[in-house]
Amino acid sequence: MRTEVVIIGAGPAGLLLSHLLGREGIESVVVETRSRSHVESRVRAGILESSTVELLDAVGLGGRLRREGDEHRGIHLQWPGERHRLDFVDLVGRSVWVYGQTELQKDLGRARDVAGQQIHYEVTGTEVHDIDGDRPSVTFLDSDGTEVRVEARAVVGCDGSFGPSRAAVPEKAKQTWGRAYPYAWLGVLADVPPSTDELIYAWHPHGFALHSMRSAHVSRLYLQVPPDTDLADWPNDRIWDELAARLGHGQDGWQLTPGPITEKSVLPMRSFVMEPMRHGSLFLAGDAAHIVPPTGAKGLNLAVADAALLAPALTALLRENDSRLADAYSATALRRVWRCTHFSWWMTTMLHASTDPFDARLQQSQLRWVATGQAGATGLAENYAGLPIGF
Ligand code: FAD
Ligand code: DHB
Repeated sequence: MRTEVVIIGAGPAGLLLSHLLGREGIESVVVETRSRSHVESRVRAGILESSTVELLDAVGLGGRLRREGDEHRGIHLQWPGERHRLDFVDLVGRSVWVYGQTELQKDLGRARDVAGQQIHYEVTGTEVHDIDGDRPSVTFLDSDGTEVRVEARAVVGCDGSFGPSRAAVPEKAKQTWGRAYPYAWLGVLADVPPSTDELIYAWHPHGFALHSMRSAHVSRLYLQVPPDTDLADWPNDRIWDELAARLGHGQDGWQLTPGPITEKSVLPMRSFVMEPMRHGSLFLAGDAAHIVPPTGAKGLNLAVADAALLAPALTALLRENDSRLADAYSATALRRVWRCTHFSWWMTTMLHASTDPFDARLQQSQLRWVATGQAGATGLAENYAGLPIGF
């Protein structure tokens, strides 16, 4: 089979890229190991930066998000005894939107259906070949076991943290950086109206807690837990009790309303960056190239920003034989990647309880500086609401 671009992975980076390329008349084939229903029901991120929303609007994907998503002007930042509100719109003129990754994934899937996009779900044995030349290919076994080879002008690895694309770049041609954090998040989805209007990020000596949401009827909550946590040790009552303690139930009359938990999982936390994000005719986008801990809500937004940068670069390369944007892709993308890597590390280390009491004192001082002063609050707001994508 021949096409112009093979995209490995039908997550947000892969499907958005195929959508953006399709608008430029560039043909792509997408391959994905999981089923469509699995990809569309994975509970993951929930916050879209204002630039992400503007981009989705500009390419015809913002309709349901604008109708069903919820615009938030800011967040609450708290520690025992104090809750402070940061208003991003006042601070930096930008807001964020609460819209689940599951919903964005469904919107992307429908848009690709309308465009007649070729997507091979439930493939196995994906392999990348000949990326040093300009005729790379990808082979895989289709869902019915048929061997398929797709030749293309470019291959884009949008295959997340565990896909084969990153490993296809020779060791000598890449550098990696990373950090594993000594904690994880226990995340739950609950059928209960949120107990807050905007997200609450809470520092607590027991560990960090976050109250997020998906809709007027569904709450999303997280607890810092040890990385080796067994969910069997966390029955629902224990989860709600711990959330209540850390989020300040009873503080100034605020109450956390518990409800039926419909999903529970433990998420490891790490930072990772691979440079460069291109080798020959293989380009990497999203989690395939970089992973952030979730505290700053950046993972999904970075995947969108990479796709937004790569689509015009591939268009110029394939249509005009102009390689300037493609040659600049990695360096340009990495500027944003490192900014978000720093911000995610900064939020994570500011908010998660450590075993060192010196750290706790520094965190309390930092939190007060961020929550009550113009400079700290503006820095958080600028990074959280997101830098312009410039699509
Ligand atoms: P992905 O969404 O991971 O998509 C990659 C796709 O590639 C997957 O569909 C995968 O099945 C496919 N694939 C893998 N291997 C192959 C192969 N061999 N062949 C073909 N296809 C393949 N971010 C936040 O901001 N907040 C959160 O709360 C949050 N929670 C998360 C929870 C989990 C469990 C995970 C894994 C991530 C979470 N993230 C969160 C991060 C965010 O969801 C990701 O940054 C985002 O999904 C990145 O999009 P992507 O398209 O690059 O990668
Ligand atoms: C959500 C996840 C995050 O990592 C975050 O910082 C804020 C919200 C969420 O899943 O809603």
